[in-house]
Amino acid sequence: MMVLFIRTGAVALCVSRVMAINLNITNLTSIQEATGLILSGLMDYYQGYKKGGTVGMFTNPYYWWEAGGAWGSLIDFSYLMENDTYVDVISTSLQYQTGEQNNYMPLNQTTTEGNDDQGFWGLAVMAAAEKNFTNPKDPEKAWLALAQGVFNTMAARWDVAHCGGGLRWQIFQWNMGYDYKNSVSNGCLFNIGARLARYTGNDSYADWAEKVWDWMEEVELLKLQENWNLWFVYDGLNNTNCSHVTEIQWTYNQGLMLNGAAFLCNYTQEEKWCNRTENLLAGSVVFFNRTTENPVMYEAACQGATKSNCNNDQRSFKAYFARFLALTSVLVPSTRPTIDKYIQSSAVAAAQSCSGGTDGHTCGLNWSWKGWDGYWGLGEQMSALEVIQSLRVHDRPGPLTASTGGSSLGNPAAGFGTSNRDAEPLNLTSKDKAGAGIITALIGVSLTASFVWLII
Ligand SMILES: *[C@@H]1O[C@H](CO)[C@@H](O)[C@H](O)[C@H]1NC(C)=O
Ligand SMILES: *[C@@H]1O[C@H](CO)[C@@H](O)[C@H](O)[C@H]1NC(C)=O
Ligand SMILES: *[C@@H]1O[C@H](CO)[C@@H](O)[C@H](O)[C@H]1NC(C)=O
Ligand SMILES: *[C@@H]1O[C@H](CO)[C@@H](O)[C@H](O)[C@H]1NC(C)=O
Ligand SMILES: *[C@@H]1O[C@H](CO)[C@@H](O)[C@H](O)[C@H]1NC(C)=O
Ligand SMILES: *[C@@H]1O[C@H](CO)[C@@H](O)[C@H](O)[C@H]1NC(C)=O
Ligand SMILES: *[C@@H]1O[C@H](CO)[C@@H](O)[C@H](O)[C@H]1NC(C)=O
Ligand SMILES: *[C@@H]1O[C@H](CO)[C@@H](O)[C@H](O)[C@H]1NC(C)=O
Ligand SMILES: *[C@@H]1O[C@H](CO)[C@@H](O)[C@H](O)[C@H]1NC(C)=O
Ligand SMILES: *[C@@H]1O[C@H](CO)[C@@H](O)[C@H](O)[C@H]1NC(C)=O
Ligand SMILES: *[C@@H]1O[C@H](CO)[C@@H](O)[C@H](O)[C@H]1NC(C)=O
Ligand SMILES: *[C@@H]1O[C@H](CO)[C@@H](O)[C@H](O)[C@H]1NC(C)=O
Repeated sequence: MMVLFIRTGAVALCVSRVMAINLNITNLTSIQEATGLILSGLMDYYQGYKKGGTVGMFTNPYYWWEAGGAWGSLIDFSYLMENDTYVDVISTSLQYQTGEQNNYMPLNQTTTEGNDDQGFWGLAVMAAAEKNFTNPKDPEKAWLALAQGVFNTMAARWDVAHCGGGLRWQIFQWNMGYDYKNSVSNGCLFNIGARLARYTGNDSYADWAEKVWDWMEEVELLKLQENWNLWFVYDGLNNTNCSHVTEIQWTYNQGLMLNGAAFLCNYTQEEKWCNRTENLLAGSVVFFNRTTENPVMYEAACQGATKSNCNNDQRSFKAYFARFLALTSVLVPSTRPTIDKYIQSSAVAAAQSCSGGTDGHTCGLNWSWKGWDGYWGLGEQMSALEVIQSLRVHDRPGPLTASTGGSSLGNPAAGFGTSNRDAEPLNLTSKDKAGAGIITALIGVSLTASFVWLII
């Protein structure tokens, strides 16, 4: 459906500058100008400080989870573009939405929050730790500890009673989708686990990531296309029939698994994970329009050949995919030639789509379209921003770890109200091989704790 463009309310504020974007991918000034304009359009959707707004939340109709995604895009912007304009806004928002237990389950969201929603805020704080984003004063809200809080509470929901394992989509029984186990929820656990392993050097997290992968492969949410050596990631399955997989493919699921595998390849140096990274990248080909010499990213499941029916959530998926691809090209250098090509041609296509709206730099959905296609929204701005700023990924240091200069405080028991007041910065030099049993024990305890909390 092609929507008519009517700028209303908050979005109409930015009408003064009329400027189309002319991107030169090898010119830093040009990338700065493009991302600056696109980001100013993105921030029109943030009214957190205005009357009626909530700190950390974007305007209606954008859900809480997408705010977690958007703050992740802004963390990337700050880091890749070396621009601290929004650092305070990002930091305040991430800290305001943590919830009482510092695990991204704020009371306002708990009736609707799913594992994937929580996971996207977890991804944002994990990136903050890896990018040495300015540390919060309160050690309870240290980025690493928050990511651990998300990881621990998600892992505690692992459900072996149906289909042999996996996280459900929903956290609460009363929500539609409680009987559905999807790749985005499990992919978030996998991705965060892989990154915590690399950041902390604690192999318990890697063991968890592997467990998630194995289960997803077992139930065929992850499917190797035998004759081509490429992995596809499918949407999910219903607990009522474990062999009935919904075979829809989304960019962000492919990206979550690809990037998690890349972190594990980088950390473990195991051929298994490096090969999986390569083959997930090979599977990513389905999300690029290759009818021209320059492959352009698109959301294949809802951007059809002639019409699009992507909802608000789905219109932001390309942002995460671009982010995950770019990180992968740094972590696993052999993927770089393919990914650079994907990012560069998609960035050019995205930039030229950002020529709409009353501000002249509203981004469209279909990057193969010549000019702006009439779509607009938070997701469109985020996607264009991430793919363009990703051009800078090789000009900046890769994700840090506790032993390469990351300074975020950790708390292995975070997420259940355990204090972090006396935390010391992690300074691990060798891998902790003894953790696997401990995490299982911890989770046995935590399950009871969170169960009680659920009833309240
Ligand atoms: C793009 O920028 C580079 C370096 O800043 C410059 O050498 C090149 O001529 C520019 N290309 C175009 C088409 O303007
Ligand atoms: C780089 O881009 C800026 C901004 O568009 C432009 O003013 C400048 O001339 C470009 N530099 C080169 C070498 O093309
Ligand atoms: C930093 O970002 C802001 C906000 O998007 C922008 O206005 C400004 O031009 C950027 N600064 C540089 C040096 O790119
Ligand atoms: C929760 O909702 C209330 C009422 O809308 C708002 O004042 C408060 O800031 C919200 N808190 C969070 C963490 O979103
Ligand atoms: C799962 O299957 C049950 C029984 O067929 C059905 O009622 C439910 O709506 C399904 N859930 C999802 C999320 O598709
Ligand atoms: C479960 O799904 C599979 C694959 O779609 C199907 O062949 C099978 O009949 C289903 N089983 C039941 C009990 O519905
Ligand atoms: C990579 O994985 C594929 C699929 O499992 C396998 O066929 C191939 O031999 C592996 N390659 C290497 C180098 O391990
Ligand atoms: C891919 O790009 C070509 C050329 O612009 C276009 O004709 C085709 O419709 C595009 N396909 C999709 C799925 O957007
Ligand atoms: C995207 O743009 C291309 C090029 O104009 C066009 O062929 C294709 O139909 C468009 N796709 C959608 C879903 O509108
Ligand atoms: C691991 O990632 C870093 C970037 O953080 C990169 O410089 C390094 O080359 C990678 N290691 C290997 C073995 O690929
Ligand atoms: C990370 O930040 C801390 C605290 O600001 C600083 O001491 C440290 O040097 C930074 N690390 C890197 C690699 O920049
Ligand atoms: C490693 O992680 C596990 C699981 O979170 C935790 O129980 C254990 O204390 C951690 N070990 C260290 C040395 O931090």
